[in-house]
Amino acid sequence: MSHSNLKFIQREQLKVKPKASELGFGKYFTDHMFVMDYSTEQGWYDGRIVPYGPISLDPSAMVFHYGQEVFEGMKAYKTEKEGIVLFRPNMNVKRMNDSCDRLSIPQIDTEYVLSAIKELIKIDQEWIPEGDGTSLYIRPFIIATEPCLGVRAAKQYQLLVIMSPVGSYYKEGIHPVSIYVEDHYVRAVRGGTGAAKTSGNYAAGIKAQEVAKDLGYSQVLWLDGVENKYIEEVGSMNVFFKVNGEVITPELSGSILAGITRDSVIAMLRSWGVPVTERKISVEELFDAHQKGQLEEAFGTGTAAVISPIGSMKWEEQQIEIAGGEIGECAHKLYDSITGIQRGTLDDPFGWRQ
Ligand code: COI
Repeated sequence: MSHSNLKFIQREQLKVKPKASELGFGKYFTDHMFVMDYSTEQGWYDGRIVPYGPISLDPSAMVFHYGQEVFEGMKAYKTEKEGIVLFRPNMNVKRMNDSCDRLSIPQIDTEYVLSAIKELIKIDQEWIPEGDGTSLYIRPFIIATEPCLGVRAAKQYQLLVIMSPVGSYYKEGIHPVSIYVEDHYVRAVRGGTGAAKTSGNYAAGIKAQEVAKDLGYSQVLWLDGVENKYIEEVGSMNVFFKVNGEVITPELSGSILAGITRDSVIAMLRSWGVPVTERKISVEELFDAHQKGQLEEAFGTGTAAVISPIGSMKWEEQQIEIAGGEIGECAHKLYDSITGIQRGTLDDPFGWRQ
């Protein structure tokens, strides 16, 4: 796990850790962080673990102006038998490179970055919470640091990895949410950055989320940005529907993020013999299925919340209830199975713990 060239500057005074009941999502940060710089002359250099704290950037750093940024989200757990484990971290670092490619950010050495992340976790392992629904959320990100206002790819970047002990993403834990089908704003368009994990996609979604909240809904269901017809994602998660015994999720069309939980859910359902189809599904088809009594469940998937059941949905004048507004059977079983693998309380036939 240890990386010989990794410089380590230890924090002098360790921070006081929050109580498990106070965690929430992404409010507290561990004692240390990983930092690495990039310049066109040197490539990625000076990987180091340093005390967590503010960073100093030139006000003209390009990330502030043109948003050249990518990020990832992954979780670490303390297990009884295998010690500290991560959930499919190779997929995160690989996806980070896919996002870098879309944002014209130089590629990272995935093995090196993963070993640095593991080293950072080892150093701050006391921060991994152990209560139900808790984990250590790891946020690697890259920003364009070159001071310049020209619109082009930057020549200098910084990669940072920060870590936050988290509780459930929603304070109520796993519970059905109400969804507003967004037919005005769009999150991503064909040929845009929707498939990349980059801050701009999230910034573009905040307004719609606020409007939906004001109307009394928890999240929005995103439709495609071309025809405003096909379902893409829910909030910042991938989305699944169980219709007449078959599970359907929007195909990765280029404007949808290739979620790691999405991939895990598909593999797990198939291993249970549940048919899963990745295809276009229109909101009209979904509401028709509901009319016919065939829409059995709907849920979102993501690293942060894992599985987020959808209890109701509003589209134009129609308001429907799904799975009686309760947590559907399939969503519940997926949540228990995935979190069981993550926490090491269940066998891991897929080899996802690392
Ligand atoms: C996730 O579901 O993990 C997300 O993408 C949400 C995150 C940006 C907080």
